[in-house]
Amino acid sequence: MEPVLIPHVHEPHAFTLETYLAHGGYRGMRAALAQAPADVIETVKLSGLRGRGGAGFSTGMKWSFVPKDVSKPKYLCVNADESEPGTFKDHVLMERNPHLLFEGCVITCHAIGAKVAYIYIRGEFYHVQRVLEAQIAEAYRAGYLGRNILGTGVDCDVYVHRGAGAYEAGEESALLESLEGKRAQPRLRPPFPAVVGLYGCPTIINNVETICNVPLIFERGVDWYKSLGPDKNTGPKLYCISGHVEKPGVYETTMDVTLRQLIYDYAGGIPGGKALKAIIPGGSSTPVLTPDSLDAQASFDGLMKAGSMLGSAAMIVMDETTDMVWVAENLTHFYTHESCGKCTPCREGSDWMLKILRKILRGEGAMRDLDLLLSVADNIGGKTLCPFGDAEIAPVVSTIQHFRHEFEHYIREGRSLVPTPDWQARQLVASH
Ligand SMILES: Cc1cc2nc3c(=O)[nH]c(=O)nc-3n(C[C@H](O)[C@H](O)[C@H](O)COP(=O)(O)O)c2cc1C
Ligand code: SF4
Repeated sequence: MEPVLIPHVHEPHAFTLETYLAHGGYRGMRAALAQAPADVIETVKLSGLRGRGGAGFSTGMKWSFVPKDVSKPKYLCVNADESEPGTFKDHVLMERNPHLLFEGCVITCHAIGAKVAYIYIRGEFYHVQRVLEAQIAEAYRAGYLGRNILGTGVDCDVYVHRGAGAYEAGEESALLESLEGKRAQPRLRPPFPAVVGLYGCPTIINNVETICNVPLIFERGVDWYKSLGPDKNTGPKLYCISGHVEKPGVYETTMDVTLRQLIYDYAGGIPGGKALKAIIPGGSSTPVLTPDSLDAQASFDGLMKAGSMLGSAAMIVMDETTDMVWVAENLTHFYTHESCGKCTPCREGSDWMLKILRKILRGEGAMRDLDLLLSVADNIGGKTLCPFGDAEIAPVVSTIQHFRHEFEHYIREGRSLVPTPDWQARQLVASH
């Protein structure tokens, strides 16, 4: 398919307003601002756009939850935290096509009755922040942001806020806390942010890619949008592919693509002709799949059917040399480090799982440790304040489900089933 989210990404000045306008930019915004807010929301609902940040919730539906009769200001927060292992699509969008995001911000603000949008960007994305701020200034100068945009009477200010660099800051209510200058710890819900969000005011939080889809719907029409991809999984989609593939990178296609096509056609297959062993299809919070699922559709519904999730569409590919016990330890280490510590099952459980996994890696495991791991995971999943708890058990539960024999081999033999040269170095890591 012709790329529409990152269409001229390889042009040297792809990110400039001049390039954007030369490719027909800001047409979607003109069309949307000519419509009443309620009609804009209805159009987005009809397009079938689902949020690209992980949960795949209907974007138009989410916008319609913003109360119309309150006098308080309303806000849009663009979630550009992008800290999940394997995920790197949003920073490409912002770095190479920032005006698409600004266009989407103005349309979204118009739809929900907001005049201010904050782009909450991951702390480490310093370069992207500079690109965004320079291009925001350009957009103001040209009248695409600010007061009375294009003479329509619509006002919209866009600010970039750099986070402190925490995975949990991407969770929507933790993001709001962080924007307000507090620690990035989630809030109890309800009330949901659409009703009580930033500074206690109605707030919509959407992923960068979600907002970038919005102008395309108005520029090309709902029928065009719905023609891309399968029913209920419409629109263009970015996939980040990393790990054991010839050509890691960000690829744009539609959600009728299969995992096999993404790995072998788009990313060039596995180097050295090695066999595929495992796939994490949607970022580290989604359960591992095996090559049996290669023909699954890489859509929200297709991956759910296959026993995993589309998540952030960040596919991590692992070949036959991968030690799955090490994978479980590696990701659990990440989650233990990133837990915000607010609720007990997550704070204590992640550390407990890590200790057991390290015991197994050191060659000191017992068979009952596998059931203990699953039992600890069971006491975390669905029992935490935010979905981080479900995310952190995914690597543990799914690797035991699909690769239990590797864990058992470690326990029996004291070493990995996979003859990796550095397994002794891993044992050393596990002793800490
Ligand atoms: C621990 C955690 C981290 C998250 N990180 C991100 C992130 O970096 N970017 C993002 O868009 N959504 C992230 N999410 C999902 C957001 O909470 C929220 O659902 C999303 O931003 C909504 O946008 P959407 O409706 O456009 O998908 C995260 C969720 C959790 C639980
Ligand atoms: S699940 Fe983890 S990250 Fe989420 S609130 Fe509880 S301690 Fe914090």
